[in-house]
Amino acid sequence: MARIRRANGSVGIKDVAQKAGVSIGTVSNVVNRPHVVAAGTRNRVQAAIEELGYVRDESARQLRAGSSRALGLLVLDLGNPFFVDVARGAEQAAHDAGLNMITCNSGQRVDREVSYLAMLAELRVRGVLVSPVGTAADSLALFRRGAIPYVLVDRRSPDGTSCSVSVDDVAGGALAARHLVETGHRNIAFVNGPAVLVQCREREQGFCSEIGDADLSILEVEALTVESGRDAGSRILGISPRPTAVFCANDLLALGVLQTMVGAGVRVPEDISIVGYDDIEFASAAAVPLTSVRQPAARIGQKAAELLIEETSGAGAHRHQTVVYTPELVVRASTRVSRGARASK
Ligand code: RIB
Repeated sequence: MARIRRANGSVGIKDVAQKAGVSIGTVSNVVNRPHVVAAGTRNRVQAAIEELGYVRDESARQLRAGSSRALGLLVLDLGNPFFVDVARGAEQAAHDAGLNMITCNSGQRVDREVSYLAMLAELRVRGVLVSPVGTAADSLALFRRGAIPYVLVDRRSPDGTSCSVSVDDVAGGALAARHLVETGHRNIAFVNGPAVLVQCREREQGFCSEIGDADLSILEVEALTVESGRDAGSRILGISPRPTAVFCANDLLALGVLQTMVGAGVRVPEDISIVGYDDIEFASAAAVPLTSVRQPAARIGQKAAELLIEETSGAGAHRHQTVVYTPELVVRASTRVSRGARASK
């Protein structure tokens, strides 16, 4: 049976209607509201769709309907379980609202961020959840011009021109510092990510504000990955006298530092304590369970999606919200009271 093809090779709704011997409206009902079509007719139309390989033109439907059923999510690094948990929370909220989610990964690269945001705008998604690499001012201006709503994830809006959901990273850095000072550490290393990430700047700000008179070695890495953590761990082994504690800007870095220490025969926490940030699933499952500053990642994603859905529901005036969660310290086996430390009361 010869397939019916348009000049551009695609099969249209008219071809399906002709093949099934029904109206275009009936085909549209079978696709969008199958329950209103009699079973016999529905089966005939579905057989024609299958045989012709018809796929609905979602962008045309969106243009006609004026609204998309898809949200976009653009995260910094899908290799980081933190963002996988953010995506899970956002996807669940989208699903609960009958919407789909298109998840993209910028890999901390501005060129990819710009490219993905342009693609999501072309797809006319309902709105975008975005964890920007830098300020993302240029790429988000595209959305402002195109009036496509967005919600900042893991970032506060500097000017209140969008909703945002994040954690108080200054408080998170301070929590880590207080824990290490209170357990008697006076020679501490801090492994931080690139200053282009506001999360890293704010964790450093909070950490340094509570470190007191401890000796502090700050090591900056280019990417917040396990590999960067391994490299930082090797650099820490070369510091003399060696720090008795390390705070890392996220758990992946901390797991890399842990791996290097164990490989070098340095005992954790007996010889060196390690604190991470995010409290991803692997933190508690590590060879030496990791003390970490917990972020409610799934809740961050869920709340961001709920705000975007509310903003794009068209149900009356929307006021942008800045939601900031409070991090909490989860103490595990990777930290201990430093030798000769004054035990905290
Ligand atoms: O993406 C870098 C880090 O910032 C993540 O680990 C998470 O902590 C985010 O806030």
